[in-house]
Amino acid sequence: MNIAIMGFGVVGSGVAELMTKNHAGITEKSMQPSMEIKYILDLRDFPDSPFCDKIIHDFSTILEDDSIAVVVETMGGLHPAYEFVSDLLQAGKSVVTSNKELVAAKGYELLTLAQEKNVNFLFEASVGGGIPIIRPITQCLAANEIDEIAGILNGTTNFILTKMITENMEMGEALAMAQHLGYAEKDPTADVDGIDACRKICILASLCFGKHIYPDQVRTEGIRDVQLRDVSYAANGGYGMKLLGVARRVEGNKLCIFVAPCLVQGHSQLASVDDVFNAILVRGDAIGDVVFYGRGAGKLPTASAVVADVIDCAKHIAKRKLLDWGAPEDGFVIDCAEVPYPFFVRGVCDCEKTAETVRGALAKQELHIENAPEGEIAFLTGEISENALRAALAEIPGFSTGSMMRVTAY
Ligand code: HSE
Repeated sequence: MNIAIMGFGVVGSGVAELMTKNHAGITEKSMQPSMEIKYILDLRDFPDSPFCDKIIHDFSTILEDDSIAVVVETMGGLHPAYEFVSDLLQAGKSVVTSNKELVAAKGYELLTLAQEKNVNFLFEASVGGGIPIIRPITQCLAANEIDEIAGILNGTTNFILTKMITENMEMGEALAMAQHLGYAEKDPTADVDGIDACRKICILASLCFGKHIYPDQVRTEGIRDVQLRDVSYAANGGYGMKLLGVARRVEGNKLCIFVAPCLVQGHSQLASVDDVFNAILVRGDAIGDVVFYGRGAGKLPTASAVVADVIDCAKHIAKRKLLDWGAPEDGFVIDCAEVPYPFFVRGVCDCEKTAETVRGALAKQELHIENAPEGEIAFLTGEISENALRAALAEIPGFSTGSMMRVTAY
């Protein structure tokens, strides 16, 4: 069987490398007489690459070649990836992608097209890099009703938070280090502002709850405003701090979904996930909590998931894998600011009387650090919605809020 790769960047070149390195095993597991990379589409030439003879620049060469049954899309970005993938599915070819932006924005449409054409559209690598998560949700956990899914879905921000927690680094310093080590992009917006994690929780929520969730339906907050002091208060209270993507079934069958820095229980498995590692906790009604952990990014870890999908496509060339979700539904996603959570709050009181009022009205547990600035208090609330909490704080005129974060039960 012949395959093509579109996009010879970090992941695409990892796919070519892995297909070559483990060629015999991959061919055998694919149940095909042969598994060969025929074309690699890229704008650039790679004269020094061992794959230079496969480089092409014209998409139609792949589209029109009937010997290509499976195409890998590792270009990233929405355009022209969306147009190329649509054309390929329309032409009856299966597509494997690592492109979370594409799946989060166009997953329903592309899955529907794949279904119509009786081909596969697989995207294991789009969430959690090399961590198996899409297939476990759709297959191994299929007997469960999923109540909640929560993940450390972005390695760059987890690296930054880890440095803040373990080395007392300020956010800017940790970001510079992440850039120096090649984890964060030159423009770190998608990572730091939670956009990357948002795309990934959209894919997971669509899969777990059966309706397409778009990124603009998700309240998204990054780590830009996290202060070292917040991390210290949390640690002293026995909590870790993680940027989480959370999708949680509420009010029967509605969805609360957000991306935000959260306090996690110090003893939970998520709290011990450090550096660029990712972890995803799935809470099912039969299994309870199950956590998937591993390398959420990088050349070969991500290629590992892509190639597994290629093998799956090769094994299911005439039949579809049951991987689908339904159309988006108005009213399914509710305002997460209305959903009760315990909160961590840090702020400044103008006098001791204000502090007493705050303590009496909202603080269930006060948190402390050494050398706290004059008038600052930090505390955990009982369960309260964000809207109700903001309203209650607004009624205490001498208090100004510095930060506010949800505290998770895991
Ligand atoms: N920028 C992403 C991260 C890469 O840091 O996790 C993988 O999607």
